[in-house]
Amino acid sequence: MALTSPWTHRHLLGLEQLTAAEIVSLLDHADSFLPSCKDPGAKRTDLAGKSVVNLFFENSTRTRVSFGLAARRLGAEVIDFAVGGSSVSKGETFVDTARNIEALGIHMVVVRHSCPGTPHLLAQHLRAGVVNAGDGAHEHPTQGLLDLLTIRQRLGRIEGLTVALVGDIRHSRVARSNIHGLLKLGARVIVCGPPTLVPPEICAMGVEVAHDLDRILPECHVLNVLRIQFERQKGPNFPGVREYFHLYGVTKERLARARQGVLVLAPGPINRGVELTPEVADGPSSAVLDQVTNGLAVRMAVLDACVKAVG
Ligand code: NCD
Repeated sequence: MALTSPWTHRHLLGLEQLTAAEIVSLLDHADSFLPSCKDPGAKRTDLAGKSVVNLFFENSTRTRVSFGLAARRLGAEVIDFAVGGSSVSKGETFVDTARNIEALGIHMVVVRHSCPGTPHLLAQHLRAGVVNAGDGAHEHPTQGLLDLLTIRQRLGRIEGLTVALVGDIRHSRVARSNIHGLLKLGARVIVCGPPTLVPPEICAMGVEVAHDLDRILPECHVLNVLRIQFERQKGPNFPGVREYFHLYGVTKERLARARQGVLVLAPGPINRGVELTPEVADGPSSAVLDQVTNGLAVRMAVLDACVKAVG
């Protein structure tokens, strides 16, 4: 399956470095994989003879499963690297571990790490392609792409839309990848959350900042509701979950005051009753399960495109 424009990158480290045309070519490529995502019996051979290692140094359910499944569906061999049982716990450096894995003939490394820049470091040292599956609070490019794909699928375009990223912007790599991707494709982006969770320097990325969700609701075509990253908070950033929910929780009542046809996205995992209510998460405005399916198509597209660039 050919990409619509030449993709020359071995790595996908972030959306910041990509052009709008490169992003659109990956979205189109992902679209072409959607039919085989919906048919688990469909066996493809695009990556036959290639091997992909999943290096996850941070917890993950859907991203790790999604990358593993994407690679397998394309006919690749997949190695799941368990950090707990590896020589990292014996003191081996991260780069040595990765080089040793590469010496086994790996073509692609998918890496998630709590330290920003880890995938970039690997990309400098390895001949294999590197895909960033989330580096600290920096970027999560495949999540950014799957959010873009879901918006384009549901609303038919991205250019000219107003998209609000709601919640814990400070600790969110999903927010950063969304901002880069959405702005490049011509959307207006508002980041909205408590002042303690919206870093002032975020304005330099070209977004608008709001702290009052009720005020911006009528303007938004899309609400991308981000999880409170409880594990990354260094102190109390808001008085309590109940106050947070009162001001920023996406409820049926709030949606009734939003623009008609507003689309609700959430990268997951969702803290039900904190960022959004179950009614909203499972309701007609929500595309959370489409996001998961689209995530598989995006990861198939990214692995395929990068492997072909590795050669
Ligand atoms: C996101 C992540 O890990 O950054 N989740 C995911 O990839 N499924 C968002 C989150 O953890 O809140």
